[in-house]
Amino acid sequence: VVPKSLSVKDEEDDVDVGSGKTRVTVFFGTQTGTAEGFAKALAEEIKARYEKAVVKVVDMDDYAADDDEYEEKLKKETLAFFMLATYGDGEPTDNAARFYKWFTEGKEEGASWLQQLTYGVFGLGNRQYEHFNKIGKVIDQKLSDQGAKRLVPVGLGDDDQSIEDDFSAWKESLWPELDQLLRDEDDMNTVSTPYTAAIAEYRLVIHDPTITSCYDRNLSMTNGNALFDIHHPCRVDVAVQRELHKPESDRSCIHLEFDISGTGITYETGDHVGVYAENCDETVEEAGKLLGQNLDLLFSLHTDNEDGASLGGSLPPPFPGPCTLRAALARYADLLNPPRKAALVALAAHASEPSESERLKFLTSPQGKDEYSKWVVGSQRSLLEVMAEFPSAKPPLGVFFAAVAPRLQPRYYSISSSPKFAPQRVHVTCALVYGPTPTGRIHKGVCSTWMKNAVPSEKSRDCSWAPIFIRPSNFKLPADHLTPIIMVGPGTGLAPFRGFLQERLALKEEGVELGPALLFFGCRNRQMDFIYEDELTNFVEQSALSELVVAFSREGPEKEYVQHKMMDKSEYLWSLISQGGYLYVCGDAKGMARDVHRTLHTIVQQQENVDSSKAEAIVKKLQMDGRYLRDVW
Ligand code: 2AM
Repeated sequence: VVPKSLSVKDEEDDVDVGSGKTRVTVFFGTQTGTAEGFAKALAEEIKARYEKAVVKVVDMDDYAADDDEYEEKLKKETLAFFMLATYGDGEPTDNAARFYKWFTEGKEEGASWLQQLTYGVFGLGNRQYEHFNKIGKVIDQKLSDQGAKRLVPVGLGDDDQSIEDDFSAWKESLWPELDQLLRDEDDMNTVSTPYTAAIAEYRLVIHDPTITSCYDRNLSMTNGNALFDIHHPCRVDVAVQRELHKPESDRSCIHLEFDISGTGITYETGDHVGVYAENCDETVEEAGKLLGQNLDLLFSLHTDNEDGASLGGSLPPPFPGPCTLRAALARYADLLNPPRKAALVALAAHASEPSESERLKFLTSPQGKDEYSKWVVGSQRSLLEVMAEFPSAKPPLGVFFAAVAPRLQPRYYSISSSPKFAPQRVHVTCALVYGPTPTGRIHKGVCSTWMKNAVPSEKSRDCSWAPIFIRPSNFKLPADHLTPIIMVGPGTGLAPFRGFLQERLALKEEGVELGPALLFFGCRNRQMDFIYEDELTNFVEQSALSELVVAFSREGPEKEYVQHKMMDKSEYLWSLISQGGYLYVCGDAKGMARDVHRTLHTIVQQQENVDSSKAEAIVKKLQMDGRYLRDVW
């Protein structure tokens, strides 16, 4: 069981904030933990800088049980900060979704019920995506619309570059403003003490190796009530694993089936599955060497000292132990992403060779900004590669797991089956991430590599398994089965549509009458990567699919993409949408989905004979009506 992150709801909730103290609430909407880390860091720094501040860090979801409680509690806040990540197609994180919906949809324009509140928003996003920092921007505006006072302009963190620098810059803009609010009159003229965050560290306990590790027990537990989520995944076996590409292909795409029978897990067509995979042996061995530690070491991590008193700080609860270092590195450590600056700071503190320590410090300094950007981010140097360059930096395990290696995150996949067809199985369609980086390292995606190597129960009783959970989505078939649907999904973007088509086939077999369904699929070459070809042909033969249109990008002299095929059929396509049809797009957000969006815009302009802004409005309306749905990554 992966423990739920600590929300500091406990202690300060009951604190009497009277006696000249000011209460500060730092909210976070986090998916992979970065926003949560920033929220905790901000809280620590506010505490260190301002004696009168009583700070608490709050998970947006834990804050209130329902909309009324959100309203009631927010009315009592006077100073709050929001660390909000945007992900996917401009969506809020799971833990901020409920708040976001209520706050943006449920509140009328121009109300002034938040007049008592002063606030600041820092958004976490990625400029490569279309809706850069949408959630941060929207909440910032909405807070102001509802009467709250904006303390500093919204910070727009860009994870494509160094989001830590963006966060630091935003904090620098914040301190002068907070000084006005939180510093006492008499020390107003003094310079505030420079603040350096302490390097986080767990207390490490080494265990007797003759006692068996409870690591397996911990991870094999289900949580007993069938309510699985990111913090309570369910252990399931891999039942089926096979290659979808033909032998001629030099790439790989895996079809995997998780056996969910007897677990109580349920899902709907179009949902996502979150998978906790393991780093491969090679990566784990390398990490063990770089740390100078024996992989069989049995240990546990703690956030309290020997007398049970909390170590304080912003440490999330550690993973369950005791476990072997091998298991900890495989399951819990993100070893292949480029390290954040905070990790380099921790490595610098533990580098015994002064020149290495200096170089690491330089990389995290303002002067080293460009070098960090080029040498670490630009060349996609993994944490392990960086550690290999600084062999004297061998942090103790308590530091390594707290400050150097981030927690390995689950990977999300669009489920490629329908429970109507496969109620006991969750199918995944996963392209192998494998390729050289600028330094010449071969990058192997953690989860796709794990799936590629997975051993299914149909081949061995000692099969692979993983902790998984279902994440619901709104990528759903129309309620009325007669509504026409158009699906656009090249490559593994086909995944949810395979589920849709399984569902339609099952409905058809039940005697339900279906509306037209058009699928645009794209791949390189029929002889290599036309995945599920037989199944798709069968869907057409069985009339679950009215028409299959395939764009082969590397067969002819010119690239043929799904959007070109859409253009060829623009009249028919638009007639289906005009009849109330739904358009679904799934796949790569940065390239394909953006280009398909542009093509849709052109089709609307031509078919409706309108100018660009009118076409834009029509597309927007389709989106608002939930008839143009995207599942993109
Ligand atoms: P390519 O690799 O030959 O460029 C699945 O990945 C298919 O999507 C491939 O045929 C790939 O073509 C194609 N593809 C790549 N970029 C695309 C884009 N911007 N729009 C549509 N399809 C794209």
